[in-house]
Amino acid sequence: MNTAIYQARRAELARRIGPNGIAILPTAPEQQRNRDADFLFRHDSYFFYLCGFAEPKGWLVVQGDGRSTLFCNPKDVEREIWDGIRLGPEAAPAALGVDAAFSVKDLDAQMPGLLDGRDAVWFPFAIHKGLESRVDGWLGGLRARVRYGTLTPETQRDLCGPLDEMRLVKDASEQSTMRRAAQISAGAHIRAMQLSAQMLREGKEVREYHLDAELLHEFRRHGSQYPAYGSIVAAGANACVLHYRADAGLVRDGELVLIDAGCELDGYASDITRTFPANGKFSGPQRALYELVRASQEAAVAVTKAGARFTDPHEATVKVLSQGMLDLGLLDRNKVGSLEDVIEKRAYFQFYMHRTGHWLGMDVHDCGAYTEPSEIGNKTERKDALTGETLISRPARILQSGMVLTIEPGIYVRPAPGVPEQFHHIGIRIEDDAIVTHSGCELISRGVPVDPDEIEALIRG
Ligand code: GLY
Ligand code: MN
Ligand code: MN
Repeated sequence: MNTAIYQARRAELARRIGPNGIAILPTAPEQQRNRDADFLFRHDSYFFYLCGFAEPKGWLVVQGDGRSTLFCNPKDVEREIWDGIRLGPEAAPAALGVDAAFSVKDLDAQMPGLLDGRDAVWFPFAIHKGLESRVDGWLGGLRARVRYGTLTPETQRDLCGPLDEMRLVKDASEQSTMRRAAQISAGAHIRAMQLSAQMLREGKEVREYHLDAELLHEFRRHGSQYPAYGSIVAAGANACVLHYRADAGLVRDGELVLIDAGCELDGYASDITRTFPANGKFSGPQRALYELVRASQEAAVAVTKAGARFTDPHEATVKVLSQGMLDLGLLDRNKVGSLEDVIEKRAYFQFYMHRTGHWLGMDVHDCGAYTEPSEIGNKTERKDALTGETLISRPARILQSGMVLTIEPGIYVRPAPGVPEQFHHIGIRIEDDAIVTHSGCELISRGVPVDPDEIEALIRG
């Protein structure tokens, strides 16, 4: 492990919380699945970001003077026979570059001493159940000894603030891991596309789970630990259910398949969506809608660069999609009016009801403020055209090199009066992962193509 990266992150956090601050951060809890079986353990992303330690039960304490202390499971021969090797506090300083390490059993005994004399205690708010009362207990213990000269921190601060800002801009090592994750996922999408058409050609029954199995196989054989989120494999009309999961739906010749799936690699997510013809050939109406979504994605990609606002790609997408909805007759000009009216009244929402992207990183919907920190006081109020609700908005985040976001326009056509029948039940999304650069963005997920001709050729091949 490259401990220098984690040491540098802890040093940066120390700088941000000030010389007399102290940060407390547990990893994720283990979660029961049923009876005595647990869900597969996944570390907490903030915790892993700061120390690269993936075992359960860990706690990290970072002091404003730069000193860091890890609490972890102690060595235990009997438990290790059942659950696997533990690093243990004796080996932790050398392995992780922390200054000190103790058994997690010593946490309650050590924490008051670590908190004594600090002015502010930082921990993540509203994430870990029971953390606040745990901190209260340590502070209470400290206060009880005030007559012996202890000093209790007077301020509690949300540790997510500084950590979200740090995680928002990905360093070179994070970008390199994310490139590899996206490359693995792209290969998995290609395999699923090819399998679908091949099985149909062979006259086999194809189910969504066949394609899901192909994705998982490709993820794992390249060393990915698990999918970064529940894979969506949606055949035909299922694509119009935004949070559909890979299930047992029949993949029919002549229908589209929407796959939204990405692997997690060494703690980093990828998030790719492709929509393709199950048999390898787009029909006319499918292609018309596909080309529209693709054009809207291109417009979004073209405005994604350092200095642009986070909302610019969404606005570019909405413009192209809305125009296309009018041109293809999904929206009736006589009813909804001009392009400006469609955008102003959000009439496009009938077929495009989600945003065009989100931050991507350790978490698939990664942390980081979507409003520009230097402009938070600059808020405006407006009435939403669809719901009539009063909404408060603040200037959107200005993109910087090294931020990573998805660009994922879509179109979802549910049958409704006036909607041309040829488009009914078609759901299309195209999603790519973009690293913002000075002059544009690097699409790290294009190992799987988006061009419909290339997709057809790839499936036939
Ligand atoms: N797969 C989750 C998303 O696209 O946001
Ligand atoms: Mn996404
Ligand atoms: Mn996705």
